[in-house]
Amino acid sequence: MRRYIIAGNWKMNKTVGEAIELANGLKRELYDVTGLDIVICPPFTALSEVSEVVTGSNIYLGAQDFFWEEKGAYTGEVSSLMLKDTGCKYVIIGHSERRKYFGETNETVNKKLNTALKTGLLPIVCVGERLEEREGHKTFDVVKDHVENSLKGISKEDILRVTVAYEPVWAIGTGKTATPEQAEEVHKFIREIFIKMYGEETASLLRIQYGGSVTPDNIEGLMAKENIDGALVGGASLKVESFSSIVKGVK
Ligand code: PGA
Repeated sequence: MRRYIIAGNWKMNKTVGEAIELANGLKRELYDVTGLDIVICPPFTALSEVSEVVTGSNIYLGAQDFFWEEKGAYTGEVSSLMLKDTGCKYVIIGHSERRKYFGETNETVNKKLNTALKTGLLPIVCVGERLEEREGHKTFDVVKDHVENSLKGISKEDILRVTVAYEPVWAIGTGKTATPEQAEEVHKFIREIFIKMYGEETASLLRIQYGGSVTPDNIEGLMAKENIDGALVGGASLKVESFSSIVKGVK
């Protein structure tokens, strides 16, 4: 059985004080929720403080990115060991905003993925097509390329520590969620790629979460689909009320 995972990607939002307040609010609201993994991903600057708030609770800490080298002369970068050191359990890799603004490619995602697994972090690897790609009927080609190349060379044991986030870029921050049917179609397609790569049994255990304008109103419909195992939430993860309603909306 696959366990649901709801992750909040705070992106470049929240000062340390605001982050502590949000984490405390979520801890209060969600303390009795069991049966699924809850993750919050604050910006780097707030990781240590948020870690202190959530340690020992049912909320896991995650980061939004890192650099694949262990240490050295890489001004401005943060390593996976540093993330682990702050208490991170999860890390997002290859978010479409990193692909779009910061030159992330399948190759860099793959390097980061290998490093994260070596460090013992649980990676959330993002894949998904842009609007023009969907309109040009290239969704499946793009998703296949992202999945096969970003996750290339990962062993059967390691792949089960990975969560894949299907995030159609046209649905991110736009209020235009994919319908549960549109999302399920791609999730099923991704699982079929994994069946080819790892076999039926392993693929059936792999978690694939959906991301793109997830709200308390649409969570239930999305989660009702067979191959959707959770959500990666941006905008709606920035408020206690909306993120906790999403978490509680997972049945
Ligand atoms: P959104 O972002 O929920 O604001 O659309 C999702 C994401 O980018 O992970």
